[in-house]
Amino acid sequence: MTSALAGGAALAATGRSWAEGDPLITEIQDWNRYLGDGVDAAPYGMPSAFEADVIRRDVPWLTADPVSSVNFTPLHALDGIITPNGLCFERHHAGTALIDPADYRLMINGLVDTPLVFTMSDLKRFPRENRVYFLECAANSGMEWRGSQLNGCQFTHGMVHCVMYTGVPLRTLLQEAGVRTSGKWLLAEGADASAMTRSIPLEKALDDCLVAFAMNGEALRPEQGYPVRLCVPGWEGNMWVKWLRRLEVGDKPWAQREETSKYTDLLENGIARRHTFLMDVKSVITSPSPQAPVTHGKGPLVITGLAWSGSGTISRVDVSIDGGRNWKTARLDGPSLPKALHRFYLDIEWDGSELLLQSRAMDEKGYIQPTKDELRAARGVNSIYHNNSIQTWQVRQDGEVENVEVS
Ligand code: MTE
Ligand code: CO
Repeated sequence: MTSALAGGAALAATGRSWAEGDPLITEIQDWNRYLGDGVDAAPYGMPSAFEADVIRRDVPWLTADPVSSVNFTPLHALDGIITPNGLCFERHHAGTALIDPADYRLMINGLVDTPLVFTMSDLKRFPRENRVYFLECAANSGMEWRGSQLNGCQFTHGMVHCVMYTGVPLRTLLQEAGVRTSGKWLLAEGADASAMTRSIPLEKALDDCLVAFAMNGEALRPEQGYPVRLCVPGWEGNMWVKWLRRLEVGDKPWAQREETSKYTDLLENGIARRHTFLMDVKSVITSPSPQAPVTHGKGPLVITGLAWSGSGTISRVDVSIDGGRNWKTARLDGPSLPKALHRFYLDIEWDGSELLLQSRAMDEKGYIQPTKDELRAARGVNSIYHNNSIQTWQVRQDGEVENVEVS
């Protein structure tokens, strides 16, 4: 009752009211007149047909072929902190490997006392854990280094997703094999045609990495590495090897392709930073944004977005509506979990004038998201990876939103 009144008042404030004799109220509608589908019409449920726009999308000119490409999470259309399984962005270097779990094998070799091979049923007999983590590709926002480019947070920031993983701590499996004291690094290798291989410091492998077989309560999706992927919480998505088939313990990093010519950051002085594993503190306003314009005119406006940090939890998000001149602390709502997405809101009265929306996140370690100029001063403009700078959306008087740069 109270909220209905509040809603009515809000609508009145915008100059609109309910039309007298609205047929949606006075006439019986089809959904009220006829019986609907019975149970089992969709043994695996799908979203409402009215949500058909909420899909992953790619940018065709970014890559030459879809088997080595990326599509993007529709962040502008989602709420809360969990990404639905069917909407998690996909990044494949050689397409999706299709593996029958009965044929699945995970090998541990190298500097271990006992080389081991696990089947799916072996993995499911170890004590398991449930953890919510974001996964962000190091190339997320990479197109925005030199200036604003892609018109929508799906494209500028959509190489991130956040789900609850179920899996066995990597530590448990390594302990089973017995890591020799000379072991300092771990090589994780995928079973797909790209045989994705990355070196991970043993310290991280023994800390919080998971060998995961489920996401959001059900088996991993094929696109996300079914039947088993590695989770490397807070670190760049490339290390989260999908279709995981082998773990080798060694005494130094391997210098594979994806940690030398790729996933290193070329600085202004010609020297490349390498082993830049951590995903730094970052945020983005998801609505309003270019794909989520303001359609209701002035009055109450919910500004919302996501913040995350590879270093832990988000302690604060500030939002500016005037391009960074003034800041207000946003409201964080929903679980605050380390290395997971955080949801923030700033509820304002929009006077209908142009806005320059920005968000700036801070994490529990005190790291603050930089402006674009601060980031470029530190890293130059050669890199495409690890762009965690502040994003600006221009909201025009007609409610349309555009990607602009205020640096
Ligand atoms: N693992 C394998 N085996 N093959 C791959 O192509 N891509 C990596 C990583 N793991 C990749 C992989 C990259 S670059 C990223 S960002 C993440 O997987 C993407 O995970 P997702 O497809 O579940 O979003
Ligand atoms: Co990636």
